[in-house]
Amino acid sequence: MNYRHLFHAGNFADVLKHGALAILIEALKAKDKPFALLDTHAGRGGYDLMSDEAQRSPEFRGGIARLLAADPTRLASLKPYLDLVRRLNRDEPALRHYPGSPLIAQALMRDGDRLLLVEKHPEEAAALRRAMGRDPRVHLHEGDGYERIEALLPPPERRGLVLIDPPFEIRDEFDHFARALVRSHRRFPAGIFVGWYPIKAPQSIAAFHRALKEAGLRRLVALEVMIQAARDPARLNGNGLVIVNPPFAARPALEALPRLLAPILGVGPGAVGTFSELVGE
Ligand SMILES: C[S@@+](CC[C@H](N)C(=O)[O-])C[C@H]1O[C@@H](n2cnc3c(N)ncnc32)[C@H](O)[C@@H]1O
Repeated sequence: MNYRHLFHAGNFADVLKHGALAILIEALKAKDKPFALLDTHAGRGGYDLMSDEAQRSPEFRGGIARLLAADPTRLASLKPYLDLVRRLNRDEPALRHYPGSPLIAQALMRDGDRLLLVEKHPEEAAALRRAMGRDPRVHLHEGDGYERIEALLPPPERRGLVLIDPPFEIRDEFDHFARALVRSHRRFPAGIFVGWYPIKAPQSIAAFHRALKEAGLRRLVALEVMIQAARDPARLNGNGLVIVNPPFAARPALEALPRLLAPILGVGPGAVGTFSELVGE
């Protein structure tokens, strides 16, 4: 297990994932009823962009830094997320602190909501514990997110969101990921499921989408942002999210998000953002 998110925090992939996550949490808040959020691969919670690791190849410059410099009137749907990043950096002369998905969830959720976090790497789990502080709404599990996910579902609240954000460092991660998504959705059919995936060669993603469709998932959409054409399939040329059960109220913002982000995040010809409905009602 070598992956450490600190090397990538705030990059173009984080901003798609975290932008969509914030949009979905805001939509869940439209109803008074409490909800639970489950983050199966939580990471360390918050990231110091001035650390040696983050500075080695400062990927955040191609991600969150570009978003913060963009015209905020075009990014109204991302206001809760971008306001949080600005707030965390209020006392810093330059962008330094970047929130991972646990800190975003903790900042946006309400008093009666709950956040369940799973992180396998002991050092990352210890840092996560420190980042979350003493918050009775937060429950941290050190262990394997794929193993824990079913036991943690359905949440007693019967409403909520599951984020599956693996590092894709093992060869058959797409298979694990698809199986975890399908199995856990069976346990919590009303839940919103969000899964992140890398795009090196777009052709390889078709098989993954097909597997999800054939497994019988419904109300399934995909948001993808390519930052350049996939001429070199060894590179991370883009990334995507599959979302099951996107709430109606979040649909317009989610549909617009990839097209909004692609021109800001693009690094070469072929930068494009797409929203696709993979399976309808
Ligand atoms: C992409 S990072 C997570 C980033 C985080 N979700 C965010 O958006 O801020 C993936 C994390 O999964 C952890 N990890 C790897 N394999 C895992 C597993 N089987 N179960 C839980 N965590 C795992 C890694 O240590 C890493 O911190």
